[in-house]
Amino acid sequence: MSSLAPNAGPGGHSDDVAVAAERRWAVIVMVIIGLLVAMMVITGLHWAAMPPSRVETVDVKTLHLSGEFVESNLGTTLGSDGKVMVRLVAQQYSFVPQCIVVPAHVPVTFRGTSTDAIHGFVVGTTNANTMLIPGFVATFTTTFTQTGEQLMPCHEYCGTGHEAMWARVKVVPSDEFFAKARTGERLSCVPR
Ligand code: CUA
Repeated sequence: MSSLAPNAGPGGHSDDVAVAAERRWAVIVMVIIGLLVAMMVITGLHWAAMPPSRVETVDVKTLHLSGEFVESNLGTTLGSDGKVMVRLVAQQYSFVPQCIVVPAHVPVTFRGTSTDAIHGFVVGTTNANTMLIPGFVATFTTTFTQTGEQLMPCHEYCGTGHEAMWARVKVVPSDEFFAKARTGERLSCVPR
């Protein structure tokens, strides 16, 4: 009979619609589950293949007493191997040293840590950017292409003095830097 109501009883047209809708949902849910499983597998494989860089720890309690982060060892050094290294410590609410001198067009390695809260810094508009976490040593190497002075603000909220926490980085021509930097001597542009 062609005059069947739209919601006919068992075996009628609307049962087919309901089954089709259920099937469609089943397919959509299976696709979503499949995507989630694929994401887990892909991220798991990615982390296994490309682990994060090594984790280096340091004892916050003895930081200022011994080891590479004692105050007299902070600042920029020219190693006997010719490598330029900057060591710095962040604390509420300043960086030590307050002013860092680095050469232009030469790779500079930064090593830094924090004595209290989580801090961080970025040097002007360069790609020198890291977090400083108590108990861990942050390391990165970068090359500054422009001479001049850059601001280095703390960029992790670390307490009420956060917005007043910053240092300066003075990028000087490399010949000027190497003339000043006798091997092993710590350099900074803080007037002493
Ligand atoms: Cu240190 Cu914000």
